[in-house]
Amino acid sequence: MLKTKITELLKIDHPIMQGGMQHLGTIELASAVSNAGGLGTINATAYPTLEEFRSAIRSLKSLTKNPFCVNVSMLPNASPGELTAEYFKVIVEEDVPVVETAGRNPVEYVPMLKSADIKLIHKVPAVKFAKKAEEIGADIVTIVGFECAGHPGMEDVTTMILANKVAKTVKIPIFVGGGIADGAGLVAALALGGEGVVMGTRFVATEECTIHSKFKECLVNSCENDTMLVQRSIKNMVRAMKNNTAFKVAEMEKRGTTLQELLPIISGKVGRRCQAEGDLEGSIFAIGQTIGLINEIKPVKKVIEDMINEAETILARFNSITK
Ligand SMILES: Cc1cc2nc3c(=O)[nH]c(=O)nc-3n(C[C@H](O)[C@H](O)[C@H](O)COP(=O)(O)O)c2cc1C
Repeated sequence: MLKTKITELLKIDHPIMQGGMQHLGTIELASAVSNAGGLGTINATAYPTLEEFRSAIRSLKSLTKNPFCVNVSMLPNASPGELTAEYFKVIVEEDVPVVETAGRNPVEYVPMLKSADIKLIHKVPAVKFAKKAEEIGADIVTIVGFECAGHPGMEDVTTMILANKVAKTVKIPIFVGGGIADGAGLVAALALGGEGVVMGTRFVATEECTIHSKFKECLVNSCENDTMLVQRSIKNMVRAMKNNTAFKVAEMEKRGTTLQELLPIISGKVGRRCQAEGDLEGSIFAIGQTIGLINEIKPVKKVIEDMINEAETILARFNSITK
């Protein structure tokens, strides 16, 4: 067992979190992670209506008695029609234990979370934003580096540097994400000053993830060179699998495209359909460089058990070489 400030604070057995994964963060995946002693997460924005969102939280509660998390991913600027404020209301009403926010500063929701004793994890890709997370009262900050799936930030700084620096900059506990998929990554994160790890990519290659099996097979057969960065030109950079769509987007960006032109190609709706149907080429597929470390589709419980066992073996070796 690895006991850290984060396992204590969140009342979880292992310092391992499944980060928000849009529509792939299903109640099945999240409950499997929480039941295995980690922190499983569903995404509010995967539910188009508040009724569906509320019902998902209730179903998740029926599948696990352990703490779980709800991710609220926000666009950099509030946009008309977004349900962010309403999602937070439901989160409080349904007594969700932990919230992960990403995308923009959640400061306006901090008082309601604090008064409901809901723990807030804010996920950021840069040191300055980690400082801000502490200032606004987040309980935990997650720092994600260049290797990560999804949004690595605009500055191209690796997890190795960011985690080390954030741990020296803030006093609140930190989750480290981006590039972590096994026990070695977990120990490295702890060595850098982290109190736990957040993973996305590793949880895609699990039995419980609902993505089409073609994606899981593709993932275990890929290497660390098979991802690329797109959407830099619209300041919403994404690390994704190299495929026809990612190359097309990159080409459009090279010749100077607009958000309007890109939207039909990068829309989440297209991604969702392709991921359900097994169309590997038809959409942007967010995935991280850890695909070079993942060789097997496993049940979630085994992913977590293996990580903890590997981490303990490494720590015992460290102990044996310490004079
Ligand atoms: C398929 C997929 C979808 C993701 N969607 C979201 C999301 O909607 N919101 C979010 O905050 N993070 C999202 N992430 C990022 C993860 O929560 C996590 O921060 C990241 O995957 C960690 O890096 P790793 O992939 O190297 O483990 C996604 C990751 C993956 C693999």
